[in-house]
Amino acid sequence: MLTFENHIVLNIPKAIYFLLICCLVFALSACENKSQHSDAIDEKVESLLGRMSLEDKIGQLQLMNSPGNDQLEELEERIRKGRIGGVLNEVRPEVIQKMQLIAVEESELGIPLLFGRDVIHGFKTVLPINIGMAATFNPGLIRKGALVSAKEASSVGINWNFAPMIDIARDPRWGRMAESFGEDPLLVTRMGLAMMRGFHGNDPDKEYLMAACAKHFAGYGAAEGGRDYNSASIPEVELWNVYFPPFKALKDAGVHTFMTGFNELNGVPASGNAFLLRNILKERWDFKGFVVSDWASITEMQTHGFVANEREAARKSMQAGLDMEMATSTYCNHLKEMVESCEISEDLIDDAVRRILRIKLQLDLFEYPYANPEEVINNPPDSHFNIARKIAEQSFVLLKNKNQTLPLNKNIKKLAVIGPMADDRYEQLGTWIFDGDTNLSITPLLALKNMLGRDRINYAKALETMRSLDKEGFPGALQAAVNSEAIIVFAGEESIITGEAHSRAYLDLPGAQNDLVKELSKTGKPLILVVMTARPLTIGEIQQYADAVIYAWHPGTMAGPALADVLFGVKSPSGKLPVTFPKAPGQIPVYYAHKNTGRPPSDESFTHIQDIPVRSFQTSIGNTSHYLDVGFKPLYPFGFGLSYTSFEYSNLILEKNRLNNDDSLKVSIDLANTGIYMGTEVVQIYIRDMVASITRPVKELKDFKRISIDPGKKVSVHFTLPVSELGFFDAKGNYKVEPGKFRVWIGGSSDSGLSEDFLLENE
Ligand code: NOJ
Repeated sequence: MLTFENHIVLNIPKAIYFLLICCLVFALSACENKSQHSDAIDEKVESLLGRMSLEDKIGQLQLMNSPGNDQLEELEERIRKGRIGGVLNEVRPEVIQKMQLIAVEESELGIPLLFGRDVIHGFKTVLPINIGMAATFNPGLIRKGALVSAKEASSVGINWNFAPMIDIARDPRWGRMAESFGEDPLLVTRMGLAMMRGFHGNDPDKEYLMAACAKHFAGYGAAEGGRDYNSASIPEVELWNVYFPPFKALKDAGVHTFMTGFNELNGVPASGNAFLLRNILKERWDFKGFVVSDWASITEMQTHGFVANEREAARKSMQAGLDMEMATSTYCNHLKEMVESCEISEDLIDDAVRRILRIKLQLDLFEYPYANPEEVINNPPDSHFNIARKIAEQSFVLLKNKNQTLPLNKNIKKLAVIGPMADDRYEQLGTWIFDGDTNLSITPLLALKNMLGRDRINYAKALETMRSLDKEGFPGALQAAVNSEAIIVFAGEESIITGEAHSRAYLDLPGAQNDLVKELSKTGKPLILVVMTARPLTIGEIQQYADAVIYAWHPGTMAGPALADVLFGVKSPSGKLPVTFPKAPGQIPVYYAHKNTGRPPSDESFTHIQDIPVRSFQTSIGNTSHYLDVGFKPLYPFGFGLSYTSFEYSNLILEKNRLNNDDSLKVSIDLANTGIYMGTEVVQIYIRDMVASITRPVKELKDFKRISIDPGKKVSVHFTLPVSELGFFDAKGNYKVEPGKFRVWIGGSSDSGLSEDFLLENE
């Protein structure tokens, strides 16, 4: 026995040693393979480039929109001549197949095409809108969703996705907040990475299912006043600390392409912005992929007043570092002549072509140019719907639940299902669903009928659309409500009110939806408001008429089953807000990671406009940074979301209170489920650098974990934050971690939690 024990004791280190050697050998050979692979790619690129005429090269820089059938032949001819690098918006498998065949078999150099598409939140199976996906705080699940999209889209031949959009979005008036992952750089980064990895896929035969595209570089989400396409003025220090981090992270993780934006940034349109594209992205970050313009954004530089004509636009964009032109043809029309007249160097064009060819080779398109026509996914399998359903469930944010109105009891005899969003297969899908199949949608009404049986549902649409002002349907809705034990109102915004170019100045529920809720509340029945949209709405007043509020975003194909499960407690809501909800549009911008200012507001310093004594002395009512009418707090803070159960945080412990640069902050907290339901809490850790050479936000999210706990149980949740991640950038983009006092919070939102201080000491 002793010998046996000795044997084990003696051999464990050897076994570990052996294992380590194996890992090392494996890692080294993987590195070697990778570098050999990349050398082989470079060789192939150079050999191709050497055989290309100037026209061939410029052809690779052209991304064309697929035309209608009557002009297909013209495009095919251009492909045959090698004058096209990629095609966007073609999803017919047979047309893609034919175009690729022409490029590979009939063009002189046989360079395959890229086929690009906006697969923003699903292809056939529509996942929740991106801002809803962010509310899951579950990157692992989002990656699975992106893989579903990649499988469906790549099955028809799409090999390049214009996603993820990783713009920081802090203004709900901006319609494209829908496509974003919200206001926080860390959350946007995690979600963006997850999506990119999902798009890349895990097909064992091919390295990638689709290339991803980090867009829109940069500052597009900071459009003035939330008006889409508008100017962004962002100080460099904020670019580095807020807007750049998601892009840098995706670049580091190997994203193949970047897209510019429609906006100008500090006076220079993104598509002609050498600071962004050349200095930062290509030189400083050493990005090896390529940059594509947004649609017609090169020619729009004339309208911006940045260039006088298309020729100048082409020159400025090329010099700035924009490699591929989407939809317009200024490169094709002007670059050749500019090279020949020595106005620009051919080296610039070679660099752009190298990048595009490299990505085509990395995607293995030379080896696998075609999708298999027999594998087109026309009918997505159940596994796709299950993932869409799970994401939807986890995206719902419970904002209010007076007297435990929710979950509803399945023994309910009659349930009133009311509102324009209750049974609309199209609107529940949200914006950017070019390929989404509305026939696959399961609406809340359908799912509730399936769950409870048709005869237990009293349905009334009440309003024709979300914007309808005609109240003709109200009496019917009231009747349905009176005859029921509880009322669920499905309200929100149609998808066309959200998304690109769909900014709003008012942020309330459109049409007569508020009146509908008010009327129904008069019945005195428990009233549940389910809001389906893609931006925060100012629901402060109307929610007072509801007993419970679920913010469901645009939940996608599986909206119905996911909502039914949550409404009836099969699942407890676990979503958290990825963006701060304002009380009024006048409060925007409002986000949790704001600065403290020299005069931060407080309950003590604040006097509401109605409470100010007449003719008060000018400085008598507290001179702090607030609004007299809406105060200084948002309607709901970032990270907020209730559950059917309750959670209690206790026992925050820092392993050390004094750290140096090589340390990590190790911190733990106990989380107890003090309610009666099983629940999942998103535990969030925030820090503040209390004094810094450039003032830091009052809180910054540093990590989060989804923790599921049974009722009555308690778990200890641990976080480790390397000190090297507690720093910030200065205006020149230099990263530094400054010594001094820090504060850490752990809690269930940006506005709650237990806190402790620690000191970061000099080396
Ligand atoms: C314009 C949008 O801004 C961009 O995000 C999209 O990828 C392109 N159009 C292509 O559809």
